[in-house]
Amino acid sequence: MNQKTVIITGGNSGLGYQCAKNIASKSKDYTIVIACRNKNKALNAQKNLKKESNNPNIYTLSLDLSSTESIRKSYDEFLTLEIPPLYGIVCNAGFNRQQVEYTEDGFEATFGALHLGHFLFTNLMLKQMGHNGRIVFVSSDMHNPPKIVCKYTPEFHNAEELAHPGINGELSDKELALRYPMAKLCNILCVNEMSDRLKKETDKNITVNAFNPGLMTDTNFMPENSNIIAKKLLPHFASLLARIIKQKGSGVESGKGLANLITEKQFERITRKYFDRNNETPIETSLQAQDNEAARKLWVESAELVNLKENETILSIK
Ligand SMILES: NC(=O)c1ccc[n+]([C@@H]2O[C@H](COP(=O)([O-])OP(=O)(O)OC[C@H]3O[C@@H](n4cnc5c(N)ncnc54)[C@H](OP(=O)(O)O)[C@@H]3O)[C@@H](O)[C@H]2O)c1
Repeated sequence: MNQKTVIITGGNSGLGYQCAKNIASKSKDYTIVIACRNKNKALNAQKNLKKESNNPNIYTLSLDLSSTESIRKSYDEFLTLEIPPLYGIVCNAGFNRQQVEYTEDGFEATFGALHLGHFLFTNLMLKQMGHNGRIVFVSSDMHNPPKIVCKYTPEFHNAEELAHPGINGELSDKELALRYPMAKLCNILCVNEMSDRLKKETDKNITVNAFNPGLMTDTNFMPENSNIIAKKLLPHFASLLARIIKQKGSGVESGKGLANLITEKQFERITRKYFDRNNETPIETSLQAQDNEAARKLWVESAELVNLKENETILSIK
């Protein structure tokens, strides 16, 4: 096997860490770059990953997806690393906040970091990818939430209303509830459009797929401002709910499935699909995620919002 580099955003914890560990453990020919916003957490994870995978080729990269400046700096930092060619990108970093937050660029944080951040990061990094690469976006079954969890249906209208929701900063109940589902829907729309543009506009044979890890209670995904009792009870409640809606996952198990999409031969030609946990056969997304016009519109409007320049990526931005 040729030496290859795989970047994993948010690889310092949870699903991203498990994915990194699984890929690194497969062969020392894999170099792993964990792209993280917190240097100390990244260095700690790097140390543990080297020990647990017995692979010394683990690097860190500074990346805050909540800042387009940080994302562009991260690209420049990546160019200084002396590592094998870039082969894979796992867009894993994510959160689901209760409070309303905004990115450095003034975008609503969930849409801003999870969709716009990964959109910009992957577009920049495409310039560094050779032939036969693989990109996976971690989405969620929450792109199409069951009514028991969220009474609203996520539907893409335009990027502006997601980037700057609400009136005078006041979000409606619907806008609040749909922040995370919409970001995860946008991840799938982005997968579809990126896959189509790569096929149409390049001969690189880079695949792009989406992944659902299921509801994982062994990661740090818990709302940050939960109190101690809520923190203890929430995983049990979430676990029960996940069983009811048949979406139980775990970081340890889903980390294997996610890693396989990057490493295993059977996925080498598969693109524009949505995989569920450790299942090798792709599943259907929501109808809203299959809307090609929405995907095209999201692409063009996202490029405008992050000010993506034609010479920053290998794909068209119009
Ligand atoms: N847990 C679930 O039940 C579940 C279900 C479906 C989908 N997912 C998705 O799975 C992915 C991984 O989540 P997880 O459960 O493993 O949660 P996690 O343990 O909290 O990991 C999330 C990672 O994302 C990083 N991150 C957050 N904001 C970032 C930013 N602005 N820039 C760069 N990195 C950032 C975190 O960094 P810090 O350590 O610095 O915070 C952390 O490394 C997410 O995309 C999530 O939406 C999770």
